[in-house]
Amino acid sequence: MILVTGATGNVGSQIVNQLLTKGHRVRVFTRDAAKVAHLGNRVELTLGDFTQPDTFAQAVTGVEAVFMMNGALDGALFRQLMAIVKQQGSPRVVFLSSLFAADRGLRIGQLHKDKEDALRESGLPYAIMRAGGFMTNTYQWIGTIKAEGVVYNAMGSGPTAPIDPEDIAAVAVHALTELTLPETLFEVTGGTLLTAPEKVNILAKYLGKPIRTIDVAPEIAVQGLLSNGIPPHVATALGQSFTAIREGRANQLTDTVQRVTGRPPRSFDAWAQTHASRFA
Ligand SMILES: NC(=O)c1ccc[n+]([C@@H]2O[C@H](COP(=O)([O-])OP(=O)(O)OC[C@H]3O[C@@H](n4cnc5c(N)ncnc54)[C@H](OP(=O)(O)O)[C@@H]3O)[C@@H](O)[C@H]2O)c1
Repeated sequence: MILVTGATGNVGSQIVNQLLTKGHRVRVFTRDAAKVAHLGNRVELTLGDFTQPDTFAQAVTGVEAVFMMNGALDGALFRQLMAIVKQQGSPRVVFLSSLFAADRGLRIGQLHKDKEDALRESGLPYAIMRAGGFMTNTYQWIGTIKAEGVVYNAMGSGPTAPIDPEDIAAVAVHALTELTLPETLFEVTGGTLLTAPEKVNILAKYLGKPIRTIDVAPEIAVQGLLSNGIPPHVATALGQSFTAIREGRANQLTDTVQRVTGRPPRSFDAWAQTHASRFA
C-alpha cells in the first residue's frame, strides 16, 4: 500500500493515476473527501490534515511507501510527521521539494530545505524530488488573461525550465516503487528554458488571441497576492522567488525525466495546446 499526500494536487493526483495504472494499491490523504470522489473504490481514503498528526498516523498505518508534499507546514511539524512514519518501521518516503532548496537566501528554499533535513535525519529510506517551476503555475494568469488579455509579469526575462506535473509524478512513481534505488536526490525540470513572455506567446498561439505581457516589480506582485488573501509570509516568500527568477537564479536544466523515464519531458508548447481551453 502506498500513501499519497497532496493527492488532490497537481502532482499528487497524477501520482495516484500512474500508481493505479501500474497496478499498485493506493491510499489517499485529503481534507475533503469530495475531491477524490471520482476515484471511487479504486483507492483507500483517509480523511485527515497534516496539522492533526493523529489523522496522519492513521493514514500511514501499514504502508510500504509515502509520497509527502510540503503542505505549507513548518519544519518542526514535518519532523513530527516523519517520526510517526518511523513508528511503522521503514516505509520509504518520497518528498516533493523545490530546486530553490539549494538557494539558502530564499525563504521558499529554506522551507523546503528544513523538511529535506528532517527527512534525511529521520533514519527512513527516502528520495527527494527537487522540482523546478510547474507549467501549472501559469493557471495564475487565467483571471487577467480572460478579463484583460494581459499577464502581469514579475519575473522579467529570467528563464525557468517549466515542468509538467505529470513528469514530476512519473519520476516520483519510480522513486516510490523501484526498490533498489541508488539515488536519493532527483532534480526535475522541463527540457527547455523559457521566459514568462515566451510562455505567454505560446499560450496566445493556442488561444488564437494576442496576450500582452506587462512587466511589474516583484513588490507590486506581492501587493496583488496580499489583496487576493495570500498570507503575508507566503506572499513575501513568493516575491523573493520572483526576484530570484528575474535575476536568472532559476535557469537550471536537468536530464532527470529522460534518464528516469526513458522519454523526454513534455514541452510547454504541447502542455499549452492541451490545456489552452482553461485560459479561454
Ligand atoms: N508550483 C511550483 O512551481 C513548485 C515548484 C517546486 C516545488 N513545489 C512544491 O509542490 C507543492 C505543491 O504541489 P501541487 O501543485 O501538486 O499541490 P497543489 O495543487 O497546490 O495542492 C495542494 C495539496 O496540498 C494538500 N494540503 C495542503 N494543506 C494540507 C494540510 N494541512 N493537510 C493535508 N493536505 C494538505 C491539499 O490537499 P487537500 O486540499 O485535498 O486536503 C492539496 O492536495 C508545493 O507545496 C511546493 O512544495 C511547487
